[in-house]
Amino acid sequence: MRPELARPTNDRRAGPTFTVVEHEAADVDPSGSARRPFEFVVAPHDAELVADQLFGLGASAVSERTGRDGEVVLVADLDPAALDGTSLRARELQDDPTWATAWHDSAQAWRCGDRLVVRPVWVDPGPARPGVEEVEVLLDPDAAFGSGSHPTTRLCLAALEPLAPGTTVLDVGCGTGVLGAAALVLGSTSLVAIDIDPAAVAATRSALELNGVDERAVVSATPLAEVPGSFDLVLANLLVPIIEELGPALVAHLAPGGVLVASGLLASQVDRAVAALSPLRVEAVLREEDWVALTLR
Ligand SMILES: C[S@@+](CC[C@H](N)C(=O)[O-])C[C@H]1O[C@@H](n2cnc3c(N)ncnc32)[C@H](O)[C@@H]1O
Repeated sequence: MRPELARPTNDRRAGPTFTVVEHEAADVDPSGSARRPFEFVVAPHDAELVADQLFGLGASAVSERTGRDGEVVLVADLDPAALDGTSLRARELQDDPTWATAWHDSAQAWRCGDRLVVRPVWVDPGPARPGVEEVEVLLDPDAAFGSGSHPTTRLCLAALEPLAPGTTVLDVGCGTGVLGAAALVLGSTSLVAIDIDPAAVAATRSALELNGVDERAVVSATPLAEVPGSFDLVLANLLVPIIEELGPALVAHLAPGGVLVASGLLASQVDRAVAALSPLRVEAVLREEDWVALTLR
C-alpha cells in the first residue's frame, strides 16, 4: 500500500509534466552546501516518478500534498547543487513560513512489515490489521518533510522489524530518524544514529524523544569512520554511490554474526551494493516497485 504517492498512469519513460513554475533550477543559488527545502509542482500522474527522482538526488524525505487545482506539490530537502543539470523546476521555500507544515492536512498513518504503523501524532491510526498486535512509531508535527513513506524507508522498516529485538543498532544516514525510532520501539537495546546533515540529526533527536526512546540513543554528525564500536544491526538506507564509498566501514562496524540492511537501491544496482559490502552474503531480498532492500550477514 502506498498512501501518499499516486501511481503514475503514464509511461515513465515519457518524463514528468510540470504544471506550475516559479523558477528554473538554474536560478537557484548553487553555492550552499547544506540541504534546503524546495517545492516541485507536478501533474498527479508524475508524482511518484518525480519523488523517486528527488530521492535519487539526495533528498532525505519527500512530502506530498494536493494543490488547489488538483496538481501535486512535492517538498524535498536538497542541496541546491543537486538540481544543476536536471530539468526539474524548483521553488526554494526557505523563507516561506508555511512550507514545513503544508503536508499536515494530507498526512496519513501508513503500515509496513508485519506489525509497524508509522503515524503522524495528530492523525487517526485507522483500522488495525486483523489479529495483529501493531507497534506504532510516531512522527512529529514539526517534521518538515512529511511522513517519509518512500519505498526505501518502508523496505528498510520491513527488513529490520524481525531483526531489531535485543540488538545494538547503528543507523547510518538517519534522516528523519524513523528507522532508529522503529528499531528502539521494537526492542533494540541501543541506537547510534549518524547523518552528515545537521537538520537530520535534529530531526532524529526529535523523533526519538517523541517516541520516548531517546535515552537509549546517541545521535550525531560523527563520520562513520570515527564511530567507535561494533553493532548487531547496521542500517544503511543510502544511495549506491554512498554505499560504495562507505562499504568497508559499514562492514567493519558489524559485530561478529551481525546483520546489515542496505536499502536505497534500485534493482539494477544490487550487484554494485553486494560487491561494496563484500564479504557479507545476501540473506534476504525485499522488493517494492523498482526498489530493493538487502539483508546481509
Ligand atoms: C535516503 S535518506 C534515508 C533517511 C532515513 N534513514 C530513512 O530511511 O528514511 C539518506 C540519508 O543519508 C544521509 N547521508 C548521506 N551521505 C552520508 C554519509 N556519508 N554519512 C552519513 N549520512 C549520510 C543523508 O543526509 C540522508 O539523510
